[in-house]
Amino acid sequence: MGHAPEPSRPWWQRGVVYQVYPRSFQDADGDGVGDLRGIVRRLDHLAWLGVDAIWLSPIFPSPMRDFGYDVIDATGVDPLFGDLNDFDALVAEAHRRDLRLVLDVVPNHTSDEHPWFVRSRSSRDDPKRDWYIWRDAKPDGSPPTNWRGVDALDTPGSVWRFDARSGQFYLASFSAFQPDLNWANPAVRAAMNDVLRFWLDRGVDGFRLDMADFLGKDPHFRDEPPETAAADDYLAATRFQLYAPVTRAHLAEMGRTVHAHPDTVLIGEVLYQLSPDQLAAYYRGAHPAAGETADGSDAGSADGSNAGSAGASAPGEELPSEELAFEASQGEGLDMPFHFGLMFVPMRAGPLRARIDAYEAALGDRWPNYDLANHDMPRLSRHGEAARLAVMLLLTLRGTPFLYYGDEIGMANVDVPPERQLDPFIIYLTGTTRDGVRTPMQWRSGPNAGFSDAEPWLPVAPDAHEVNVETQRSDPRSMLSLHRRLLELRRTRPSLHAGGYEPLDGTPEGVFAYRREHDGDAALVVLNFTDAEREVTLPRPKRWRFGLSTLLDDAARPRDGALTLRPHEGAVLLGEGADAGER
Ligand code: GLC
Repeated sequence: MGHAPEPSRPWWQRGVVYQVYPRSFQDADGDGVGDLRGIVRRLDHLAWLGVDAIWLSPIFPSPMRDFGYDVIDATGVDPLFGDLNDFDALVAEAHRRDLRLVLDVVPNHTSDEHPWFVRSRSSRDDPKRDWYIWRDAKPDGSPPTNWRGVDALDTPGSVWRFDARSGQFYLASFSAFQPDLNWANPAVRAAMNDVLRFWLDRGVDGFRLDMADFLGKDPHFRDEPPETAAADDYLAATRFQLYAPVTRAHLAEMGRTVHAHPDTVLIGEVLYQLSPDQLAAYYRGAHPAAGETADGSDAGSADGSNAGSAGASAPGEELPSEELAFEASQGEGLDMPFHFGLMFVPMRAGPLRARIDAYEAALGDRWPNYDLANHDMPRLSRHGEAARLAVMLLLTLRGTPFLYYGDEIGMANVDVPPERQLDPFIIYLTGTTRDGVRTPMQWRSGPNAGFSDAEPWLPVAPDAHEVNVETQRSDPRSMLSLHRRLLELRRTRPSLHAGGYEPLDGTPEGVFAYRREHDGDAALVVLNFTDAEREVTLPRPKRWRFGLSTLLDDAARPRDGALTLRPHEGAVLLGEGADAGER
């Protein structure tokens, strides 16, 4: 039976977002690197697949030392990818197919080759000096604070980089070539909000903010306390360095800019270590819960409202200016802080349920989101036999799912030989560079998998002759078919795109099941993470009929109120007719 999608929810809650890594999707101009015209060529694939929005990793002019996350002009297009006309064409062509476009913007830092930083570095007196964060050494000559860089990406060390010419340190949370902007400077805030307006005026539907939780720094540049400074836990060691109360005010300002345009979304990348409660506090309109301060003390500021679970302030601490007060946020901010929790739990019933339950409980009626892979993390295929279960989980949970290009065909985490590696950072989960999750999209068998006529910038995976879109489109049991069927089911069933989440108790060991209901429509998702057959008693009084199996046959039909699943099989059951909606 057909149900029309619910018109009342914003598109980004109904929809599924697909991340395109522009360098690797499709090369149209024959230089071995993907580009905007290439993406336009492949939009029909995305429309056919059934996703709703594209998130584009950075396309701005860049020296590409961090492959675009080191920007030198945030309102331009790197010639590698095309120009602004190509961009306008992409927006128009995407919208023509009902696909939204979300741009990746990097607010926390720029490239050290950005004209702003070149000037900032040129002299202590340059008007741009204060656009970045410059400080003197401590009296003993050591860096200005004991703050440390992101250990997942770089060699752990100080965030402060010494500039011999001016005799001061500048702050760079990531690499030395990515200096942090000084968000305490109103001119910087105005410039970055103008960047958002520039792209909004060109028709984009929203943004993914890179490292959104890094924007606010402790206004007093206090050292992290010695007892936490050396902690293994990066979050515990960065309470002043990542100063949440101030960050939230900056995000609120950007929220106002973005939401002034209708139907837009503001998504923020935040550290994967954030707890569900800390994630909840980053939502638009969320007031950080009392007693959730990082140090457990009463961290309220003068107005008592801007203490944050992801930051701390000393008792009696006041924010630097009224502009930055949390009160000023007026319910503005991120629509969704990214949730990476499922990337770090084993693909097993118990740990998954525990994490999802905790996240759901912390969020309440805020809108969740899930992400199993991206350009910084291993691909979905790392889950082996559980990969299909992972996809069913991702596409049937309450909340917006994010898909990563190529995962829909099960692309491998490619072993890129050392002489072809380009990425300066490693994925600490695997100890490999991120190159292996950024290899060219595999469109068909044949030269360069249909990605480019030239030698691609990264090698094509060795299995591309088998694992590709063309082959899998004609195979009704392929990973691609599974994605398409799940996306279709999610789109057409209100329970799956709008329903609540209700885990089922008493399932057999190794089985995770949850029920979703909305407006008289019901779905039951049952996932067997074991390598044995499992029989599950179905909840009454509803009658359940077969919807979809991860194995894409219909053997998993409920019989006599029970469902038998094969090893590593998952199924979606649909609530039958009149009973649907009853509990
Ligand atoms: C984010 C990006 C990552 C980049 C880093 C520094 O984590 O996802 O690719 O290297 O920010 O900009």
